[in-house]
Amino acid sequence: MKKTSPHLDDSFILNKLLESAYDGIVVVNQQGIITYISKAYTDFLGIDKESVIGKHVEDVIENTRLPAVLKSGKTEKARLQLINGDYMVASRIPLIKDGVVIGAIGKVLFRNIEDLNLLYKQINQLQKQVDHYKKAGGVNQAKYSFRHIIGKSEKLSDARTMAEKACMTDSSVILTGESGTGKELFAHAIHQESARSLKPFIKLNCAAIPAELLESELFGYEEGAFTGAKKGGKPGKFETADSGTLFLDEIGDMPQGMQAKLLRVLQEKEIEKIGSQHPVKVDVRIIAATNRNLVEMVEKGIFRADLYYRLNVISIRIPPLRERPADIDFLVPHLLDKICSRLGKYVEIPPGTMRVLKSYSWPGNVRQLENVIERAVNLAEREAVIVPEDLPETVTEIHDSQVKPLRETLEMAEKNAILTALNLSGGKKAKAARLLKISRSNLYERMNKSNL
Ligand SMILES: Nc1ncnc2c1ncn2[C@@H]1O[C@H](COP(=O)(O)OP(=O)(O)OP(=O)(O)O)[C@@H](O)[C@H]1O
Ligand SMILES: [Mg+2]
Repeated sequence: MKKTSPHLDDSFILNKLLESAYDGIVVVNQQGIITYISKAYTDFLGIDKESVIGKHVEDVIENTRLPAVLKSGKTEKARLQLINGDYMVASRIPLIKDGVVIGAIGKVLFRNIEDLNLLYKQINQLQKQVDHYKKAGGVNQAKYSFRHIIGKSEKLSDARTMAEKACMTDSSVILTGESGTGKELFAHAIHQESARSLKPFIKLNCAAIPAELLESELFGYEEGAFTGAKKGGKPGKFETADSGTLFLDEIGDMPQGMQAKLLRVLQEKEIEKIGSQHPVKVDVRIIAATNRNLVEMVEKGIFRADLYYRLNVISIRIPPLRERPADIDFLVPHLLDKICSRLGKYVEIPPGTMRVLKSYSWPGNVRQLENVIERAVNLAEREAVIVPEDLPETVTEIHDSQVKPLRETLEMAEKNAILTALNLSGGKKAKAARLLKISRSNLYERMNKSNL
């Protein structure tokens, strides 16, 4: 006798399979709304299945990349995802029908098969370490982004806008500006916001390296390239920066011989290590900085014009602080905060001290301002307030000399007005007197007094 077995339909089997799986499985529709989530997943998250169906996946699962997969339509296999403080291995698959992404499946492995457990723990630990170093500003990582660049003046905003544009391209950038204006800060920020942000950011200070070592620093050397060469050779900055950004600081100090070699690398996009016959392809974005006047150096023949033009695709001038005193209002609290939290102190800067700080010309720019504040925070030992006496004499003195006796200021203003009128009237005194609304004899008298 034949027994009739109950019909096993596909969706019944599928459901059983999904519910019994150790993995967390989540399915979202085109809009990122959860349409299915497995029991293992809700158990792990400690949430109720019914309450999450119909919610947007971003509201339920932290660091989910399903919306990104919906956008890209690309599968992501075995990536690490941080959930509940632990790294999980996650895979994401777009659901594509007739060429259109109609949803996506996310799969998270959090019950680890025993054999994988050790490996999983190690990866977890290593990833946490990597995160730690990244946060602490690891070796080959940019440390600053645009939010670290403080100031709202028009001139600084113009520089920032240019820099933001530079993030969107791979073109070379030259940052110019006096010492301490923030060139390095800008270089970090441009890399940080560019498509290369996850790749290395390598800095080389051309002024700090002796000319004869610059070549091996930039291009590296092979084992045995010269006496004293390290075993196994040494990679150069270009190689370390491959697929990332190389920040050439103080480019104006690069010796002419190296300028020629650098130009060749930028043109050929390949380097040749010292002692090697084989060029190696490199993909490096260059950001250069200098406080020297490169245009003048090119005119004088000290800096190669061809290299200058190759580097100067995007040129950003960071204005000196004296051209944007309004930024001091924002920089001082920011720097004070930074210094105080480093020194574990609480100190205030009252309006009187602010006025003094704002009237100084800051030849050393933001770096000098930072140093002056740090010194004052240290001096303001007992009182939690920085008074003008806590500032160096150079700062307060110049402040005094900027306020001239009123008589002197008035005389200067008068002399300037007369000169402008004479200029406008082409030297004709009658016309100048009319412009100044004084008589001709009065003009002669005043010109005499002003030694004009
Ligand atoms: N706009 C800004 N906002 C906040 N901090 C700034 C700003 N500009 C500069 N700084 C700070 O001032 C100091 C000097 O800046 P940075 O080193 O970038 O200057 P630089 O132009 O590279 O100077 P140099 O030519 O001497 O190398 C740094 O501590 C930096 O963080
Ligand atoms: Mg610098």
